[in-house]
Amino acid sequence: MFVALTGTPGTGKTTVAELLSRRGFTVLDVKKLAVENGFILGSDDERGGSLIVDTDSLSEWVMKRYGKQGGSENIFGNTDRKDADPSVRPISENYVFLEGHVAHLMECCEVVVILRCDPKILYQRLSSRGWPAKKIEENVDAEALDVILCEALEYYENGDVFEIDGGTGDPEAAASAIIELANAEFKKESPDYMLGKFDWSDYLLEKY
Ligand SMILES: Nc1ncnc2c1ncn2[C@@H]1O[C@H](COP(=O)(O)OP(=O)(O)O)[C@@H](O)[C@H]1O
Ligand SMILES: [Mg+2]
Repeated sequence: MFVALTGTPGTGKTTVAELLSRRGFTVLDVKKLAVENGFILGSDDERGGSLIVDTDSLSEWVMKRYGKQGGSENIFGNTDRKDADPSVRPISENYVFLEGHVAHLMECCEVVVILRCDPKILYQRLSSRGWPAKKIEENVDAEALDVILCEALEYYENGDVFEIDGGTGDPEAAASAIIELANAEFKKESPDYMLGKFDWSDYLLEKY
């Protein structure tokens, strides 16, 4: 199953993706796939020239190339171990993460994991990237306003969307929380995983 690992820029996606891949999961970088395989529609000059990914076509391509059903390069499970007892296969073989801030727009994903980050911390992280002030503010506001969560809920059932704290100072904890979800086949219903637990409205009230 493909899992979107998404979040506002700076919430820790790439950091957590690296930790997941160290723990044996396959993680594909959406932007890199799009650039390398010609799925860029253009650049958004109003947003500091960030690239616009053709998520519909890229998603189709990912399914054709890597999908479990008929994909030419099935990356689920180790094909050398076809005879191995499926019940003892590591959980990491069942999931492939697609990492990027538009990953939740990829139709091939069945589950969405959104990294969240306190807007004040996000502001500091994005400032250290040397981005223009407007770009930083737009992204911090988008995080505070739950933009990615709202987008994800347009396309996915509530139960298939999970929010994980990416602002804690401990990316390992975020990776472990995601692995715990994978171990539970992304069927967690405990209050820890209730949507809406990240409420940055204080930040907005203070600012506006
Ligand atoms: N949980 C975390 N705690 C503290 N710093 C983090 C955490 N996750 C990421 N970072 C730092 O925040 C910055 C942005 O992380 P990055 O993974 O590049 O975000 P993204 O890929 O979502 O844009 C990096 O400098 C990274 O080291
Ligand atoms: Mg990144």
